[in-house]
Amino acid sequence: MTKEITFKVFRYKQGDPAPHYDRFTVPCDENTTVLIAMQDIRRDQDPTLMLRHSCHHASCGTCGMRINGKEELSCVVKVLDLGTPTVTVEPLENLPLISDLVVDMTGFYQRYTAARMPYIRQSEFNPGAEPPEGIDRYTRYENCIECGLCLSACPVAGSDAEYLGPAAMAAAWRAVEEPRNGDGKHALNWVDNEHGCWRCHIAFECSEVCPSNVDPAAGIMNLRRKLTGSSLLRLFGIKR
Ligand code: SF4
Ligand code: SF4
Ligand code: FES
Repeated sequence: MTKEITFKVFRYKQGDPAPHYDRFTVPCDENTTVLIAMQDIRRDQDPTLMLRHSCHHASCGTCGMRINGKEELSCVVKVLDLGTPTVTVEPLENLPLISDLVVDMTGFYQRYTAARMPYIRQSEFNPGAEPPEGIDRYTRYENCIECGLCLSACPVAGSDAEYLGPAAMAAAWRAVEEPRNGDGKHALNWVDNEHGCWRCHIAFECSEVCPSNVDPAAGIMNLRRKLTGSSLLRLFGIKR
């Protein structure tokens, strides 16, 4: 069954005095995703509509948008499942806007530097090798597809431009936990400040929108526990 759905789409081009919304009507069936609808609009109605995507199956992390006010991967959100006659589509928040639905992810990626978090992951080692004992503890953090949905949903990132953000701190926690990184002090030092793990208000907005079940807020809580434990040991003069 096909239904006519109206999309209210955020529009902005460099130099525009202010953003606005355009409305488009698209016939959608039960398989039409929001990403496909946006591509249909660009193909049939407005070739200037800018968006990002690649894989179409929740793997590349490039198609993040706010759909009816919630951060989502647009390639896996079926339009008719939303149940609304009008669907509002906006770019991610807390990242610089480039055009329409496209944000600049540079600052997001720059938080993952080789000095703090390794690029090579345990899962990229020899696939024929036996998984190391205890690997289950790390898989949630290795599932991150770096989509930025968590950063967009984070209210602290909206008020503190220097906030390290949930995804990067989840990766920092993995660096602390993974034995290959020694004691993880570099990552702990990086998050131990007013723009790091102590700034988080632990309301789990980031974990709620994460499409890969990474649970960054839990990682941030673990970082706090680790830092608090280290401070207590220092206070009592206990060396580890
Ligand atoms: S739990 Fe922390 S990192 Fe996650 S959204 Fe809330 S403030 Fe941001
Ligand atoms: S932690 Fe989740 S929401 Fe955040 S970038 Fe990684 S996959 Fe996306
Ligand atoms: S297009 Fe790759 S995650 Fe959606």
